[in-house]
Amino acid sequence: MSDAIAIARRRLTGARRVAVLTGAGISAESGVPTFRDTQTGLWAQFDPMQLATEEGFRADPSLVWRWYAWRRTLVDQAQPNAGHRALAAAEARFERLRVITQNVDGLHARAGSTNLIELHGNIMRTICLERCGFSQDSPARLAPGEPPRCPRCGAWVRPGVVWFGEMLDPAALDDAAAEAQSCDVMLVVGTSGLVYPAAGLPAGARRAGAVVITVNPEPTDLDELATVCIRGKAAEVLPPLLEAAY
Ligand code: APR
Repeated sequence: MSDAIAIARRRLTGARRVAVLTGAGISAESGVPTFRDTQTGLWAQFDPMQLATEEGFRADPSLVWRWYAWRRTLVDQAQPNAGHRALAAAEARFERLRVITQNVDGLHARAGSTNLIELHGNIMRTICLERCGFSQDSPARLAPGEPPRCPRCGAWVRPGVVWFGEMLDPAALDDAAAEAQSCDVMLVVGTSGLVYPAAGLPAGARRAGAVVITVNPEPTDLDELATVCIRGKAAEVLPPLLEAAY
């Protein structure tokens, strides 16, 4: 075990409330391609503004629907890794452990995390474009083509993710900020810390007096405010960091 993991383990001992902020890096070892990775091959010719904005969707619903159908297939084939599983198992160890994720792949829930905030939504969810309230969690496999119509109001349906230019769900964001304010330890795993407002959560936790532990193989801007910085991959670091037995 590295020195940094041993130090971080000591900081976790006695913690009652733990908040965990995760990003794309925790799913790297599950083989989930990042947003950037999915803009390859056939899809390289399209701009993110065509594929991941409401304007892009309205301009060409079937193009965007096909891209998401393909991404859902990739996510469906991926399995949670040892990092996701270690976080799910650790829920039982603390009075409260909440995972706040920027990922839309749903792998935390599939690994068994129950106390979860999906800040950017979930790619497996389908919602009504006109926000009539329709939402469906595991959409049936739909043939590529035009997106289906909302069974309630007849508008298009769209993926239940936060697109560029959209606000995060205010309730989810408030919940996440409250966790950051009240946790003893915030664990920050596999995020570059560049995309706000999620990237502001570790600073909020630190200001409120929490210990901040980062896990990332690469340096990031969040290292500056970390109490302990662990350089390593999530699936390798989280099991020894979080297992209870010494
Ligand atoms: N374990 C831990 N961290 C890793 C691993 C790994 N195995 N592999 C890569 N990383 C780190 C990278 O070093 C990088 O710092 O994960 C981070 C991923 O950064 P980003 O790709 O910027 O992902 P994220 O921080 O989640 O981005 C936030 O931006 O693209 C949008 O909506 C998307 O939710 C995403 C948001």
